[in-house]
Amino acid sequence: MLVAPSLLSCDFAEMGNEIVRVDKAGADLIHLDVMDGHFVPNLTIGPAIVKAVRPFTKLPFDVHLMIDYPLDYIDAFADAGADIITFHLESMSDPLLTIDKIKSRGLKPGVVIKPGTPADAVYPYLDKVYMVLVMTVEPGFGGQAFMEDMMPKITAIKEEIRKRGLEVLVEADGGISEKNAHIASKAGTDICVSGTGVFKAEDTEKAIKALKEA
Ligand code: DX5
Ligand code: ZN
Repeated sequence: MLVAPSLLSCDFAEMGNEIVRVDKAGADLIHLDVMDGHFVPNLTIGPAIVKAVRPFTKLPFDVHLMIDYPLDYIDAFADAGADIITFHLESMSDPLLTIDKIKSRGLKPGVVIKPGTPADAVYPYLDKVYMVLVMTVEPGFGGQAFMEDMMPKITAIKEEIRKRGLEVLVEADGGISEKNAHIASKAGTDICVSGTGVFKAEDTEKAIKALKEA
């Protein structure tokens, strides 16, 4: 699997250097969690912070929008230096308009589903997106327990992608560490997000390597 460390668990006062640290340790992407205090009961970072830390790495920025109106903020995150923008199908914005807007800025779109949303919710968008993100925790906070019961959903989505001859990536996000990464991998995950599992690990390089090889 490719590994996308989630900055949600990094030292926020050292965010730039934390990015350099995981880049050197073998990260494939940088996962940035954007929360608005409405879609989820937490507030994190906005475009200004994304822009401020952009110069610290050449790795792709995988921006996960947990906000009510993602369509209204695509330009701001594109200007800030996002490469991939994922947004929730449970949000208020029209998915097709949001996908088109992300593409119009030359970026890669992805759709995200919460644990309560079924796999087939993403099927109408499979031929239009770069990535599908399946939440393996309720979005809002880092450090929660991995929901293994989301694995059939990942497998079903991956199988649908294969059946249609598409090349969409499936990303899993929440509670993934060295201990359970093999479960996510076996289910068909292409990219695993890991916050606590990477930033709180004793040996960052070893943790990232273990996730990759899982
Ligand atoms: C949760 C976020 C995740 C999460 C990952 O809403 O989308 O990216 O912070 O952190 P861990 O790996 O600690 O669950
Ligand atoms: Zn995330």
